[in-house]
Amino acid sequence: MKPQRIVWITLIFYVLFIGVRFVFMLYPADSVKLRMAQESTPSASERRADNLWAYYLINDENPLRADFTVGLEKVQGDFMLDERCAGYAKRMIDDAAADGVYLTVVSAYRSVQKQRENLDSYIKRLMDEGYTSKEAKALAEKEIARPYASEHNAGLALDILTPDWWETHDDVTADFENTEQFRWLTENAHRYGFIMRYPKEYEDVTGYIYEPWHYRFVGVYYAGRIKESGLPLEYFYKTNF
Ligand code: DAL
Ligand code: ZN
Repeated sequence: MKPQRIVWITLIFYVLFIGVRFVFMLYPADSVKLRMAQESTPSASERRADNLWAYYLINDENPLRADFTVGLEKVQGDFMLDERCAGYAKRMIDDAAADGVYLTVVSAYRSVQKQRENLDSYIKRLMDEGYTSKEAKALAEKEIARPYASEHNAGLALDILTPDWWETHDDVTADFENTEQFRWLTENAHRYGFIMRYPKEYEDVTGYIYEPWHYRFVGVYYAGRIKESGLPLEYFYKTNF
C-alpha cells in the first residue's frame, strides 16, 4: 500500500475514534454516571448528620412502616412537611419569591388515609371513563402511590405549581416544565435539599410517570450529588456515596 494511503486511513480512523469518544463523553451510560457519583466519596465531615435522616427510599417495594409517625410544620398555607425539612422548604419558597418566582404548594404531607382516598377516587374516575378495573388500577398506580408508599405520607415531598395554574389547567400535567417556576427549581431546588424525584427518562426505574412538580427532600448534600449524577434516587438505594 502507498504510504500516502496509509496516512489517510490512519487519519480517518483517528478522527472516527475521537468522534466516538466525544459522543460517549457527552452521553455517558448510566453505569458510568453511577460510578462517577460513587467514586468521589466525601469525608465524614462532609456527610453531615442533617443529610442522613432523609436519605432513604420510599416506594412500592420500600413502604413506610405501619407505625411510622412524623412531626409536622407548616410550609405554605396549611400545607405541612416533616418539621426537620420544613425550614428548608420555606427558605426555598422565600428565595424564589425574592427572585420574582412564586412557587405555589398544592400538596405536601398527606395522611395514609388521604392517600388511599386519592388513589381510590382516581381509579373510580378512570373506570367512569371506560377503563376496566384492572386497567384503571394499573394506570392510577403509575401516578398515585399506594398508601404507605408515598413520599407525601412521610412529609418529605412537595408538589409545586404556578399561582395561576388552575386558571388554565384542570389537572397537574407535564406542561409545568414550561414554566419559570420549573426552571428556577431545576437550577436551585438541590441547594435546599430537594430533588425532582420522578424524571422523564426513568419512568421504568421509578415506576411513576414524569412529575416535574414533585420535589423530594433528601438533604442538601445528597440532593447536590444526585442532581449532579442525573440519576433517580433508586440507583443510590443502600449506597453510601
Ligand atoms: N404522585 C406520587 C407518586 C405520590 O403519590 O406520592
Ligand atoms: Zn407529589
